[in-house]
Amino acid sequence: MSLPKTEALAPSRISASAVAAAAWHSLFWLVVANAIGVLISLLLLFPSLNRLLGEWTYGRWIMVHMNLELFGWSSLPMAGFLFKVYGADREQLAQWCRPVLWVWSAALAVGSLSWLSGHSSGKLFLDWTGYARVVFPLAMIALWGLLAISFRRGWNRAAKRSLASRCAKIVGLVLLLAVPFAIYIASSPNLYPPVNPSTGGPTGASQLESSLMVVAILLLLPFGLTQRKAARSVRIRASWILLAAEGLLCLGLGRADISHHRPAQFLSLGSLLLWLPLTPAYYAAFAWRPETRLWRNAFLCWWSALLVTGWVLFLPGILDHFKFTDGLVGHSLLAMAGFVSSLLIFVMVQLLGEDGWIFNRARSFYAWNLAVVGYVVLMSVAGWREGFDPTFTIVPGVAREVLYVLRFAVGSAMLASSLDWLVDATTLLREPAVSKSSTQEAAA
Ligand code: HEM
Ligand code: HEM
Repeated sequence: MSLPKTEALAPSRISASAVAAAAWHSLFWLVVANAIGVLISLLLLFPSLNRLLGEWTYGRWIMVHMNLELFGWSSLPMAGFLFKVYGADREQLAQWCRPVLWVWSAALAVGSLSWLSGHSSGKLFLDWTGYARVVFPLAMIALWGLLAISFRRGWNRAAKRSLASRCAKIVGLVLLLAVPFAIYIASSPNLYPPVNPSTGGPTGASQLESSLMVVAILLLLPFGLTQRKAARSVRIRASWILLAAEGLLCLGLGRADISHHRPAQFLSLGSLLLWLPLTPAYYAAFAWRPETRLWRNAFLCWWSALLVTGWVLFLPGILDHFKFTDGLVGHSLLAMAGFVSSLLIFVMVQLLGEDGWIFNRARSFYAWNLAVVGYVVLMSVAGWREGFDPTFTIVPGVAREVLYVLRFAVGSAMLASSLDWLVDATTLLREPAVSKSSTQEAAA
């Protein structure tokens, strides 16, 4: 693929071009991971197909599917966001954005080959072993290095910027540097085993903790993307105060072997429901590009659905029923393919500006979102049945086959939408000028 030379482009286009390259890499991995998703959905329908695949059977593909969805699709848009925040997408440094993205993608390719060859630590999302366990953290360090150099170079230029903004960026760099080391260390099976007997299962505190991390990211994101509307600062302050209060609540909750049947546990987790009205109010306090409307609404809807269904899932009786069933696969899909994916696309559209049209075609927008709704409903039904009869998803039967055929169908619709985005993102990289004229054609 011939890519435009960054030197020949105007500053605003250089910046859009670095973000477009991040979007292209993440979409590439989305298409690959979704194609694998469709393959494994077929393998669950027709297990005999595994025999045709030699050693590369379901157990190996599922790791590749999950890791590419997380470390490819869900991570690379954030690289685009960080380019923008640390100014790596500007001036001479912009030419280094693409090599850094290629290094990241190469590390994912090495990881995929190692999982397909049967190497794994056995830990979910931490199954990096051998070369892959070194190469992937190195790719993260390459990205970090580019961000750190950009920050250093921008120090004088940013003299006008507030001290708070500089401090936030320094804290960000310190935290980001810890990630590759944490991944390397935590991937070791010697640190703690894949099935860890010393953790007592999900508690209100652990669920609240991880959800509050997501809330913190949601509250931070707008500061790297746009400006505040002056008149709306009360709701911004109220949101940060609530986050701090919930953090304190978390510290006061019992941990380890505390049952989710205790009212203090599920009532505390219920405090997350306050974010139902507050998140849209918070986002309305910032000035967004008009192109983001579709995906902003989509991610806010998915977030509301996640908060309500995630809390209901934790309730006594419900979690006991859905534990270890397809119901949790449905929850994972709602969280990642629904909420996280629409949030990432919203971020990319805001960063891409007028080039964001690639995500705003009506056909792929509706196909993706309706297919994810379908997927979640199908898996919730399967999980509900499985809760009564654990053999439901193992022993072939008409209801199981119908649900799994429909999952294959909605999965194919998701794959088609992601291909649509990848094709348009490729056009964007090849012919940036064409992308501008296409803006008018984009369906809103
Ligand atoms: C083309 C669409 C997709 C299809 C057909 C598909 C298919 C599958 C299948 C068959 C499984 C195994 C379920 C089981 O354990 O029985 C799975 C698991 C999973 N997929 Fe996908 N997938 C798709 C898209 C995605 C996307 C877009 C994401 C995230 C962004 C994702 C994240 C996951 C995760 C996290 C799991 C593990 C779920 C769990 O064990 O709770 N998938 N997928
Ligand atoms: C971005 C946000 C989120 C992501 C990516 C996410 C992802 C996941 C994943 C991958 C699992 C494990 C599924 C399995 O074992 O097969 C899980 C479990 C669970 N999640 Fe979430 N989730 C998110 C938000 C939430 C929220 C906001 C709540 C509650 C309000 C919640 C409640 C639960 C519960 C109750 C479980 C079951 C825990 C268990 O029994 O193992 N999740 N989530």
